[in-house]
Amino acid sequence: MKRYHVTTFGCQMNEHDSERMKGMLESLGYAEADAAQDADVILFNTCSIREKADSKFIAHLGHAKRLKREDPERIIGVGGCWAQSVKDEVFARFPFVDVAFGPGQVHKLAEFLTTDSLTAQGFFEFEGFTGHLPRKRARDFQAWVQISAGCNMACSYCIVPSTRGREVSRPLEELVEEVRALAAEGVKEVTLLGQNVNSWGRSLAARGARARSFAELLHAVDAIEGIDRIRYTSPHPSDMKEDVVVAHAELASLCEHIHLPLQAGSSRVLKAMRRTYTRERYLDRVALIREHVPDAAITTDIIVGFPGETEEDFAQTLEICEQVGYDGAFTFVFSPRRGTEAGAITENLVAHEVKVQRMQRLVEVVQRRATERAQRLVGRELEVLVEGTSRTDPARLRGRSRHNKAVNFSGLASPGDLVAVQITGASSQTLTGELSLLASASAAAR
Ligand code: 5AD
Ligand code: SF4
Repeated sequence: MKRYHVTTFGCQMNEHDSERMKGMLESLGYAEADAAQDADVILFNTCSIREKADSKFIAHLGHAKRLKREDPERIIGVGGCWAQSVKDEVFARFPFVDVAFGPGQVHKLAEFLTTDSLTAQGFFEFEGFTGHLPRKRARDFQAWVQISAGCNMACSYCIVPSTRGREVSRPLEELVEEVRALAAEGVKEVTLLGQNVNSWGRSLAARGARARSFAELLHAVDAIEGIDRIRYTSPHPSDMKEDVVVAHAELASLCEHIHLPLQAGSSRVLKAMRRTYTRERYLDRVALIREHVPDAAITTDIIVGFPGETEEDFAQTLEICEQVGYDGAFTFVFSPRRGTEAGAITENLVAHEVKVQRMQRLVEVVQRRATERAQRLVGRELEVLVEGTSRTDPARLRGRSRHNKAVNFSGLASPGDLVAVQITGASSQTLTGELSLLASASAAAR
């Protein structure tokens, strides 16, 4: 039996796409190999969001090159955003690559493998959702659901609109059917994925169907028996409407966590980033969340060192972090990307040392506020979905609260169980606790 190996870089959408690649390969009769050197087909699902993502992957390709030299019959495939961003250049730069494909052409991999193609091939036109392919899930009780592909925003720093194309939504009925099938297989938690999830449904009108709202989709998924938890990522603050915020308060399965990417705290920088909201409008969204779902965890993404970012602009980012008190934040140093508007800026660039120093200051504020905010959870009993054993202590268990906090706790439970955990300690990232013996899982406080 032929074997494959997939290495995944980048975001949750890529993790989802890799599960579909695996599912498709298994339906062709391939089996998964534990390591690349044992595989006949070696695949990379790549990311191009920052320069670091590119270089990380290129180091891995060197290994694949050696394996190909050892056995020229091996197939080396490169998919995903990096492949899309360089397209056919892949073959000129890395002649040992046999097949390259973008995020909308994963199915072409099957075509390539089932024909006796002798020449390297590249596939880069959007043709279909990877969400339509068979899947191989990493966990029995959790699943990704691709609700849309592509992005219609034009953030000036971001490569994604050029790698994943214009936004296309999958129809409501199709998604409901998919989640129903997942629930029947024992899935308890679904994460709805899209580049801009809360604009989901709008593009349906362009294809003759009725336009829908993201809140409608949340209601429809919540109504499906067996789904205990709904998550989604990522929303765009401009499209974060009151109906979605209210849904967090109303729908039993919608988790108390909202990832609301800020990117920058100064309206001037936000404008240069083409984020389509101001500092005030963003804070207004936060106020709306705090009003309807006071306990919700709010997390964010922030970029430091965008071209032209002054000390004053940066101080406004710090100020928002102080004010909001995020439960967590992903912080990035601006990385110029090929083909993007901001990547072409040559003036007023922020010096490397300044970027590094700003990053340190930002991380200090983010972590301090996250630690402070996490204290509200100490002493409470939280519902935890068990994922496995703790990474640092095999005698303890690890899971996630509805706030998306990692929880390490003592007690007996199995992966996939929903249990009640008494929280005894909290740091910026992790909670610690003990399994509650008295409470039944369904009675777990939220
Ligand atoms: N440089 C740095 N960070 C970036 N991100 C996207 N593009 C860039 C870039 N060119 C960050 C944004 C986004 C997250 C997924 O990655 O914060 O929300
Ligand atoms: Fe995901 Fe963006 Fe990386 Fe593509 S470039 S894999 S969309 S993070």
